[in-house]
Amino acid sequence: MALITRRSLILGSTAALAATVPLAADDGYPVMMVYKSPTCGCCGAWIEHVEAHGFRVAVQNLPDITVAKRELGVPQELWSCHTARIGDYLVEGHVPAIDIERMLSERPAIAGIAVPGMPAGSPGMEVPGYSEAYDVYAFGSGGHDVFARHGG
Ligand code: CU
Ligand code: CU
Repeated sequence: MALITRRSLILGSTAALAATVPLAADDGYPVMMVYKSPTCGCCGAWIEHVEAHGFRVAVQNLPDITVAKRELGVPQELWSCHTARIGDYLVEGHVPAIDIERMLSERPAIAGIAVPGMPAGSPGMEVPGYSEAYDVYAFGSGGHDVFARHGG
């Protein structure tokens, strides 16, 4: 809880990010807030992927997406394109919806999960005839660890 409280305080003092984040909907998952660049196409493709899995999404476009990553505390070695918040958790990059669902149901004591970079074949980064193996990392005050593996 200490982590969450600290993050809320940091966000509250930041003018660049939306002051209010939709935290809960009437039913199902909390609304996911996605921070992205206005010019990034793969972010839109990833949003379509999570929406197809039943997530509801609100979007804030930022001219400099690294502002959100720094303010929210995403470790730089895990950075990708977009950054999302859902409930108390962060989701960095092209994380498959099934891993977000697992995090929300297991509720591990982590800050969030991330797919660093933009691996080909991850949701929103589909390349016809090609995909690579990639890992989803859990991160938080204890560093980071593999949360899930996806084959190439
Ligand atoms: Cu991307
Ligand atoms: Cu993106």
